[in-house]
Amino acid sequence: MRVGTVREIKNHEYRVGLTPESARELAAHGHEVWVESGAGLGIGASDADYVRQGATIVATAKDVFEGCEMVVKVKEPQAGERAMLREGQILYTYLHLAPDPEQTADLVKSGVTAIAYETVTGPGGQLPLLKPMSQVAGRMSIQAGATALEKAHGGRGVLLGGVPGVMPGKVAVIGGGVVGFNAAQMAVGLGADVTILDRSPDVLERLGIHFEARAKTRFSSTANLAESVAEADLVIGAVLIPGAAAPKLVTREMLGTMKPGAVLVDVAIDQGGCFETSHATTHAEPTFVVDGIVHYCVANMPGAVARTSTYALNNVTLPHALAIANLGWKAALKADPHLANGLNVHAGKVTFEAVATELGYDYVPVSEVLG
Ligand SMILES: NC(=O)c1ccc[n+]([C@@H]2O[C@H](COP(=O)([O-])OP(=O)(O)OC[C@H]3O[C@@H](n4cnc5c(N)ncnc54)[C@H](O)[C@@H]3O)[C@@H](O)[C@H]2O)c1
Repeated sequence: MRVGTVREIKNHEYRVGLTPESARELAAHGHEVWVESGAGLGIGASDADYVRQGATIVATAKDVFEGCEMVVKVKEPQAGERAMLREGQILYTYLHLAPDPEQTADLVKSGVTAIAYETVTGPGGQLPLLKPMSQVAGRMSIQAGATALEKAHGGRGVLLGGVPGVMPGKVAVIGGGVVGFNAAQMAVGLGADVTILDRSPDVLERLGIHFEARAKTRFSSTANLAESVAEADLVIGAVLIPGAAAPKLVTREMLGTMKPGAVLVDVAIDQGGCFETSHATTHAEPTFVVDGIVHYCVANMPGAVARTSTYALNNVTLPHALAIANLGWKAALKADPHLANGLNVHAGKVTFEAVATELGYDYVPVSEVLG
């Protein structure tokens, strides 16, 4: 199969759908890989790097969309890209269609076969193609918080690890899922005094076993949460209630109980945020101050570490891309029900129930499409 990738054109998106190493893997399986010139520059991969791994460089995105049977991307196709999609072509990328009626209409009209990273499942109902970005954001939240704690950035001037003879900073992580676990790992590694709050007994037990005495776990009741937030130098918001907006767990009133210059990092901002005073920010201007408390609320944290994020993403997307290229999309989806859950649109039909319901399309189950 001829597989292609393009330079991402969404504002401040530096990741790329295929790394040079992924291109090599596809080429080693007998596939042809076309890469738009400059597609890898955001992660420090030159055209020559791709060529060395067996890819062919083409001049424009148009060449890729016209010439390739499958296009592998990172972000949802932008309007200009959607105009180049065609019937019978496979699009494999993050789509997030439910809140995006315009994109959905264009994909339906194009006749493309669109497989969305975010709805591919794993054993136990996980979303393995979202997980690496949560890992990145969780780990980044501590370095973002540590920077914001510096005086020059408005923080209270606390070094998270302390030094011999001086107490370490206190970190409260609200939500002990993928983001929270990775945040706690980084904070513990720096030597901070870490408390993780969650409402799930299973999650608390797992964290307790993993961290032993290196981090405290605490049930996320209203009283416990208020106390941990008031004591913390750095609070990480990492809650998720699947399919719902994040609950506002830290109210404006609670800011008054915190230490002036303490820092809130709201990783859950992409679901509306879990602090009442949060609003989404960008990497260009990541923080703002409310009532003396520094807020960091960047909605696309992994974008800042595009190279690590791209490699983390490719690790989980490449095996499916290979299966699709090796077997053809239909056989690959038939062989793997988790990958089949990724099919959102095929030949003008919406095949993902939540998208069809949300946007008023007839729902055609994937099983019907696969025959
Ligand atoms: N800002 C970014 O760039 C970025 C990047 C990746 C993920 N995210 C977001 O981070 C959030 C967390 O993602 P995740 O992958 O860790 O989800 P997850 O499902 O793995 O973990 C969420 C955890 O929150 C817990 N929780 C729910 N209600 C709670 C409460 N009231 N108090 C304490 N804990 C509670 C759950 O029990 C669960 O353990 C999501 O909103 C996700 O979209 C943001």
